[in-house]
Amino acid sequence: MTYAIIGSGAIGSALARQFARSSIEVQIANSRGPDSLADLVAELGSYITPTTLPEALKADTVILAIPFMAVADAVQGSAQWNGRIVVDATNAIDFPAFTPKDLGGRSSTEIVAEMVPGARVVKAFNTLPAAVLASDPAQDGGRRVLFVSGNHASANADIASLIERLGFAPITLGGLNQGGLLQQFGAPLVAQNLIKLR
Ligand SMILES: NC(=O)c1ccc[n+]([C@@H]2O[C@H](COP(=O)([O-])OP(=O)(O)OC[C@H]3O[C@@H](n4cnc5c(N)ncnc54)[C@H](OP(=O)(O)O)[C@@H]3O)[C@@H](O)[C@H]2O)c1
Repeated sequence: MTYAIIGSGAIGSALARQFARSSIEVQIANSRGPDSLADLVAELGSYITPTTLPEALKADTVILAIPFMAVADAVQGSAQWNGRIVVDATNAIDFPAFTPKDLGGRSSTEIVAEMVPGARVVKAFNTLPAAVLASDPAQDGGRRVLFVSGNHASANADIASLIERLGFAPITLGGLNQGGLLQQFGAPLVAQNLIKLR
């Protein structure tokens, strides 16, 4: 299983830090190219490989850690998805108001899924502030919770397993029009920093 993170800002860097901490290899790309990632790689070490956006889009699992409005542009160069996994860590936000984007009641990840036809799309890694996501998931005798939603049970299970390997406690909520709505920006599960005991 190959992993790639697209986006090296607050969330992309937080995720890369957790992959490095867990000794899991991951590629990372942004809009500026691999050279711009030299400092991050120097800090996090050899499990993190800087790459180009087109290369990152070839991974078995592609994690979108970019603005919601940038997704269509970022994924346009992808080859066939053929059942590969796309993890949507984006939040659909109107700036500068910092309010939920009006999506007519739809799940933001269903909209992302339309941009990656043939991918198995999972919503995860979007509910915690970046600084919390970057911090040690072992806390107060338990593990920090990350939510998982998606319409493909096998992909949900793969990402829940990844979340376990990263040291967090996954809670799988269900499909995008159920759990996805609960964990998207403006919904009750966003910014809930929960610890699961045992
Ligand atoms: N910050 C948080 O606490 C937080 C929490 C939960 C969820 N989120 C969500 O996570 C996502 C990322 O947020 P962030 O705070 O990490 O943003 P950020 O710090 O502004 O970083 C955004 C990253 O996306 C990259 N990017 C933008 N357009 C791109 C494109 N077309 N192709 C490739 N890369 C592109 C940028 O590349 P360059 O570096 O080259 O500019 C940058 O690395 C957003 O959807 C946000 O709503 C954020």
